[in-house]
Amino acid sequence: MSSELYARHVNDQWVHFLNMLGTEKDFVRCEGARLTTASGKQVLDFLSGYCVYNIGHNHPRLIAALKEELDRHGPTMLQSHVPPLAGELAERLMQLCGKHLTRTVFMNTGSEGVETAIKFARAHTHRTGILCAGGAFHGMTCGALSLMGGAMWREDFEPLLPGVESIPYLDLPALETKLATGKFAAFIVEPVQSESGMHSPPAADWLKAAEICRRHKTLFVLDEVQTGIGRTGKFLAAHHSGVEADMIILAKALSGGLMPVSAILMREEINHSVFTNIERSMLHASTFAENTLSMRAGLTVLDILEEENLCERSRVMGEVLRNGIRDLARKYELIGEVRGMGLMNGIEFRQPTSRRLKLLQAGFAKMHPGLFGQMLIRSLQVDEGILTQMCGHNFRVVKASPPLVTTDSEISQFIEGLGRTLEKVHSGMRFWVSGLKIAARALRA
Ligand SMILES: Cc1ncc(COP(=O)(O)O)c(C=O)c1O
Repeated sequence: MSSELYARHVNDQWVHFLNMLGTEKDFVRCEGARLTTASGKQVLDFLSGYCVYNIGHNHPRLIAALKEELDRHGPTMLQSHVPPLAGELAERLMQLCGKHLTRTVFMNTGSEGVETAIKFARAHTHRTGILCAGGAFHGMTCGALSLMGGAMWREDFEPLLPGVESIPYLDLPALETKLATGKFAAFIVEPVQSESGMHSPPAADWLKAAEICRRHKTLFVLDEVQTGIGRTGKFLAAHHSGVEADMIILAKALSGGLMPVSAILMREEINHSVFTNIERSMLHASTFAENTLSMRAGLTVLDILEEENLCERSRVMGEVLRNGIRDLARKYELIGEVRGMGLMNGIEFRQPTSRRLKLLQAGFAKMHPGLFGQMLIRSLQVDEGILTQMCGHNFRVVKASPPLVTTDSEISQFIEGLGRTLEKVHSGMRFWVSGLKIAARALRA
């Protein structure tokens, strides 16, 4: 019934999509890295809501902290007071992200974080251009969408923000050439491009990129919406290279998945370019930003991250996971590169060399370029009880990004399940017949 109402009043195409795949639609309980469906089936979460559930689903300490906050009956968003917890959370974030980022603007979503960075960069530099990287994912609001690769996401919504240009992902000569024009307020970029297939340039390139930005007086902005809060094995992905950004955008995992919150950390003088005097004290705001429950969620997530040593855990478990997948790659020709940092990983499926697989893959790619990936996702979920997804801009890369609290036995379960799935892909016809069924359901929808 709930799917029927959702299809009738919210988004029928999403329900058609899930029906076409034949995967689970109804989940009733989520704890740690484990999800339970309405029919009682156990599913292991290796997607984490696209890097939201770093502390695991419904962490008991987070639930207790939010209940306590509700029981206090305090002010949440009067818009006429100093929100009690926002300063505390901003200070904690500064200590974790870098002492030069003395100011934080709170918003609700990652997209709003990107919008904020665009506005503050323009106000600070008095330039209008924004430079971004091809293959990026920055969100669906008009400003954020202007920075995104992928025609499908943009086509129907153009014209988007003027003055936006892109370069290939961290192409340093291209960065130098573009910034030399003097027209760009900011270079906004992800430290790991997740949706393009999990790419992360070397540390030295990040340091060079920041230096080029500094020289051309263009703000260097890191979108750490997916990579932040311990996901890559350090609190920020930027900490792997030691690069200092002028602004850092955090969202997703900062709330622990129960309240929306985003935080845009920035240098003092950038913040002051907008909040210059009393008249401009409300020049950038959002009704729900800084609300007490979101701030409490953020503070509690930081406590949990520290107490459970989740950054280090992400680093260690990530290595175990990648080594396990690489062992499978020795046996199965379809697995290409296994890329990642911490528990943010991508498994690339390459073009096969054997005649049988070549013919099968080519046939299915003709039906739809994303069909093979969706067949894998379906098989992992239906047969092995593992939830994951392909990268948004790269249908040949499957994600392996469980909550950071995932256990050794869950990692083993994933590797064994992936192994059995690959065995089915490489031998017999059952896997490929299931693909035909997906295609048939797509045609009927
Ligand atoms: C890197 C990155 N930036 C920004 C966003 C947008 O965040 P939101 O969906 O919270 O608006 C996303 C969303 O997936 C993202 O992955």
